[in-house]
Amino acid sequence: MPWPDLSRVESQLHTETLGRRLVYYSSVGSTQDVARQEAAAGAPEGTIVLADEQTAGRGRLGRSWASPPGTNIYVTLVLRPSLEVLRRLSIVAPLAVSLAIEERTGLRAGIKWPNDVWIGERKVAGILIESELVEGRVLFSLVGIGLNVNMDVAAIPEIADIATSLRHELGREVSREDVLASLLDHFERLYRAAGRGEPVHLAWRERLIVLGRPVRVGLPDRVEEGVAEDVDENGCLLLRRADGSLVTIEAGDVTLRA
Ligand code: BTN
Repeated sequence: MPWPDLSRVESQLHTETLGRRLVYYSSVGSTQDVARQEAAAGAPEGTIVLADEQTAGRGRLGRSWASPPGTNIYVTLVLRPSLEVLRRLSIVAPLAVSLAIEERTGLRAGIKWPNDVWIGERKVAGILIESELVEGRVLFSLVGIGLNVNMDVAAIPEIADIATSLRHELGREVSREDVLASLLDHFERLYRAAGRGEPVHLAWRERLIVLGRPVRVGLPDRVEEGVAEDVDENGCLLLRRADGSLVTIEAGDVTLRA
């Protein structure tokens, strides 16, 4: 089946703008880079850049993202949010991915703070948000989503122990088009809700697998340890240190401790 079967995506899409303009590559370095060029050239909000394969897929913290052809979803959404809504993109994106997975497969998807999507003890999707701001104004924001749909994770030794795919969990193939259509629907709905100031963090919070657990958080300048006590409406993590003090963390790399 060639990817994407656009009519299958479009026939199931209920969005007003998201995915209505679609730029597709069978192979590309990174959809983030193409999306950046599109955004800088004035692409309308809601444009999406989709690829079957990435040869230089990027993850957070300078890591690479395994992006073999014929199996997964690699997509970047071009958005032009307010600064207020920009802060909530790392809530909206993993929540939309989790809801799409559940709708199409019945699998329960959890979120590892801030925005990794896990099934059981393994990561099934990752999100990379890159934004361009000028004088406190958001020019554009690029929400990159990599979702392992039909990948044989065992074939990639570097991630075999920590990653999973929908097919691996279900034991059958899943349509990438169906998952993508649901993902875009949920994303647009939540993005608009965030724009109206609705508390989108509540449903995200319910799915967080870190709350109440001891964690280690890697920050650019230090490592924090403590219990992940709660999150706030902007998605920040409230960490209770061993000495009883509470620290608010905006972004970091969380490891669950035993
Ligand atoms: C992470 O968990 O580290 C984030 C992974 C993000 C991967 C996606 S795939 C589509 C987009 N293009 C990229 O190069 N990266 C993101």
